[in-house]
Amino acid sequence: MTPEERSKRVQTMFSQIAGRYDLMNRVMTGGRDIAWRRAAVRELKLPKNGHCLDLATGTGDLAFAVLEQFPDAKVVGMDFSEGILRGAVKKSTDRAENRTTWGVGDALALPYDNAQFDGITNGFLLRNVVDLPQCLQELRRVTKPGGRVVCLEITHPQTPIFKQLFHIYFYKFVPVIGGIISGDRHAYRYLPNSLSLFPPAKPLLQKFQEAGYRESYYKLLGLGTMAIHVGIA
Ligand SMILES: C[S@@+](CC[C@H](N)C(=O)[O-])C[C@H]1O[C@@H](n2cnc3c(N)ncnc32)[C@H](O)[C@@H]1O
Repeated sequence: MTPEERSKRVQTMFSQIAGRYDLMNRVMTGGRDIAWRRAAVRELKLPKNGHCLDLATGTGDLAFAVLEQFPDAKVVGMDFSEGILRGAVKKSTDRAENRTTWGVGDALALPYDNAQFDGITNGFLLRNVVDLPQCLQELRRVTKPGGRVVCLEITHPQTPIFKQLFHIYFYKFVPVIGGIISGDRHAYRYLPNSLSLFPPAKPLLQKFQEAGYRESYYKLLGLGTMAIHVGIA
């Protein structure tokens, strides 16, 4: 499969599972995904009246977490799957809030000039992109100097016993339960595959350094199954 075909497949898949996406997140994480997004936003440190891009926004939960912690911020939620983005637009209409705008766009070729945003968030994007170095450079490019790029993503736990338990849960249980709830067996088989090819937290940090961030660090949460990587542009 070419990178273009893989990318198209990811795009279509997220549009197809859009209707059950939030429910699946809550079930698979026992509701912890909400706290993980909030923890990611705590690393964002937007200035007053900050302008944030939430990339791969999906149904918008990370974008709404930014609004919650920064009451004067404006957020652009962007995703390359129109189908899943509709969920975000609906939530924003239901909440009658006017601090978000939504748009379709690809993380590998953002439709913005350099240094447009005070900060960028993304949840569960990096594992899905077909060119990780390009994505990290693109995120840095559109961030103002000193602004933060905050990436929340699943990672490979390192504690030996927990590593095995996680392996059973993520590689055996999740595809089955995900398939049942979403009605799409292929989508939730894709999830463990996408992690197996993804770098562990430390090598991922190295990629931030290679992409030219001035400073970068990461924090682990969820018993070492989640990582927040932060790059300072
Ligand atoms: C697992 S969902 C995460 C949604 C949301 N950020 C959250 O916290 O629940 C991954 C999202 O990444 C989007 N995505 C994947 N690759 C992308 C790309 N290259 N550009 C923009 N969006 C992308 C998918 O369409 C999907 O909505």
